[in-house]
Amino acid sequence: MATYLITGSNRGIGLEFCRQLKERGDNVIATCRTPSPELEELGVRVESDVEVTSTDSILRLRQRLNEIKLDCLIQNAGIAEYNSLSTLDSKSILRQFEVNALSPLCFSQAMMSNMGKGSKIVLITSRMGSIEDNTSGSSYGYRMSKVALCMAGKSLSIDLKPKGISVGILHPGLVSTRMTSFTRQGISAEHSVKGLVGIIDSLNIKNSGTFWHSNGEILPW
Ligand SMILES: NC(=O)c1ccc[n+]([C@@H]2O[C@H](COP(=O)([O-])OP(=O)(O)OC[C@H]3O[C@@H](n4cnc5c(N)ncnc54)[C@H](OP(=O)(O)O)[C@@H]3O)[C@@H](O)[C@H]2O)c1
Repeated sequence: MATYLITGSNRGIGLEFCRQLKERGDNVIATCRTPSPELEELGVRVESDVEVTSTDSILRLRQRLNEIKLDCLIQNAGIAEYNSLSTLDSKSILRQFEVNALSPLCFSQAMMSNMGKGSKIVLITSRMGSIEDNTSGSSYGYRMSKVALCMAGKSLSIDLKPKGISVGILHPGLVSTRMTSFTRQGISAEHSVKGLVGIIDSLNIKNSGTFWHSNGEILPW
């Protein structure tokens, strides 16, 4: 039985991670700003008031966790605000950069004393953060923030190798959640998370720093 900490776990992909990991018998620490009834029903440990952009909030969480060893830290919390060239909004771009790129890096660093040899850090990024895969343009804030997250993940994988901590940079696919309510094309969170959990299980120090799709494909940077 391994211990997983998941951010943004009150809904969407984060909630589904909690459900599947709990179902297979793992220890789940579900962090969120405000718990949802669906999360509370799961019977996992819920840590609320965790705002990923707040250093104080993260330090308070670390105090509550005390010396608990984390086998896997899944940084899932994220936002998407669709800025086009004609609706460019620098505050929105900065907000997405802070939530999607800077916070997972700072959160990883803050949790370092709770991780050790064999621990895993998982960053939930997006294929929209692939420069090579960008054929449709626009979405400046979201794309720029997820490219930065991918870069943070790659550096973390190099810096943490000597400590035996591996890093997975994972794209969930287009998944039907509140974030993608503009389309009906998405796969279910259940299907996506099944694939993501399989990849996390196979994540190790040798394949650390790889950018994967939930379907197992390796994505270009
Ligand atoms: N859905 C997709 O197709 C798709 C595709 C590629 C990547 N992703 C990535 O997958 C991750 C999960 O997305 P989702 O589809 O499940 O979206 P979602 O349903 O909108 O859920 C987003 C989660 O992030 C949390 N969150 C946002 N800002 C936060 C903050 N400042 N502090 C703490 N928690 C915060 C939300 O909490 P609140 O309820 O408190 O707002 C919510 O739990 C994101 O990183 C997203 O970029 C999703």
